[in-house]
Amino acid sequence: LPAVTKALAQWVFSHPYNIKRPEVTKYLQPFQLSPETLQEVSARLRKDLLRGLGKHSHHKAPVKMLPTFVRATPDGTEKGDFLALDLGGTNFRVLHVRVEEEAQKVQICAIPQEMMLGTGEQLFDHIATCLGDFLESHNLKGQTLPLGFTFSFPCEQLEIDKSILIRWTKGFNCSGVEGKDVVQLLKEAIHRRGDYHIGSVAMVNDTVGTMMSCGYKDQSCEIGMIIGTGTNACYMEEIKNVKRIEGKDGRMCINTEWGGFGDDGCLDDILTEFDVEVDKTSINPGVHIFEKMISGMYLGEIVRLVLVKMTKDKLLFKGQISEALGTPGRFETKFISEIEDGLENAKKILTELGLDWDLVDASVVRLVCDTISSRSAYLCAAALATLVNRIRNNRKLGHLKTTVGVDGTVYRKHPTFSSKLQKAVRLLAPQCDITFLVSEDGSGTGAAMVTAVAQRLAHQSRLLEESDGEDNEEEEEEEEEGQ
Ligand code: GLC
Repeated sequence: LPAVTKALAQWVFSHPYNIKRPEVTKYLQPFQLSPETLQEVSARLRKDLLRGLGKHSHHKAPVKMLPTFVRATPDGTEKGDFLALDLGGTNFRVLHVRVEEEAQKVQICAIPQEMMLGTGEQLFDHIATCLGDFLESHNLKGQTLPLGFTFSFPCEQLEIDKSILIRWTKGFNCSGVEGKDVVQLLKEAIHRRGDYHIGSVAMVNDTVGTMMSCGYKDQSCEIGMIIGTGTNACYMEEIKNVKRIEGKDGRMCINTEWGGFGDDGCLDDILTEFDVEVDKTSINPGVHIFEKMISGMYLGEIVRLVLVKMTKDKLLFKGQISEALGTPGRFETKFISEIEDGLENAKKILTELGLDWDLVDASVVRLVCDTISSRSAYLCAAALATLVNRIRNNRKLGHLKTTVGVDGTVYRKHPTFSSKLQKAVRLLAPQCDITFLVSEDGSGTGAAMVTAVAQRLAHQSRLLEESDGEDNEEEEEEEEEGQ
């Protein structure tokens, strides 16, 4: 790196804690990725994007680069009344969206843990019930509204309303859904009830929903990124580069599924023993390795494992592991945000976890949280830098100005995550000027927007055909006159 960038990097990667227990640094050092390592990560992802886009290489590619059949972002004129479903995080949401008024009604339904691991039929029946209750309570049962379905899992999309689940990720593992068309499963569940109908369905990944809902407000938004329970991003790619799709002109949104980066072992050199442990004890070992270093589902557990090891080595809590600290999953990711937000929060949480702490313990815990959340922010930055650099190269631009729509609890709730990520991206993609726009109304609205954009494009092409027709008529008339 040039000297100026080095100085900048020092500032970007510095942390505010002055720890009086130097032995702890050896535990944290493997999490501290240098700017050079991040550049290397970005370069490896660049290659993997190509593998995912390739006609013959995509089958085995860890970064799946899934076509979404979304060919345009909003132009701000979209209109309409839609239903939207949003499944993929801890809650399931049903929405009624009126695009031009930005009005929406929302109902949140919890998905109990047993259901996440039960049968697909139970899950889709539950979804159909929540939707039915929503329609009932908002007097919408008689209408047949188009429905946008945000389904935040990797799907092989065959058409906008045909979407095959490749595999579950995050906390879900319902039987009988992988390999099936999710739209079909939803329709069957609605049919089993038989008390309401839905119109056309558009299936959308949450990254796409986020890009589209932000794109309504800012038309230069061409990337959607999620850093929540899971992590992923989508962006507008040139169709000619998507070798599995026919056609040469225009663009299509690609759902990268970057959470799968590293599934072929290409990140093994930067994994820590704690990452390996988190993967091993997860419900999907061996897959979504990148996601497990970054997202909310796993960050708390990584911190817990580090704290347990330090305590066993008598560096924390007088060597005493409390029952809570010894229990997998008990150190929640939201504790990281709270602990980094202030020393008082840290003390409170450590007490709640039944730990016998002193002030140095509390500051070490803050440093552990900072180190692990920073690594997450920097890895995301490296991945995002790969995407913006790719868009810039695609368009042969010396300089790219673009907007990224973002959502997810880690990005939204953590006190310094977003600023760390932004600073690091600037460092890793110096020729790109990126505006970050937090999605206001969640990815559910974006699903409605996908339908609205599709309707607008269809309408435009109808108008074009009609005016072509008129031109032809005129030409025919002229020809007749000439004869
Ligand atoms: C997981 C899913 C992906 C989703 C992401 C964020 O990585 O596989 O589809 O976009 O989580 O929710």
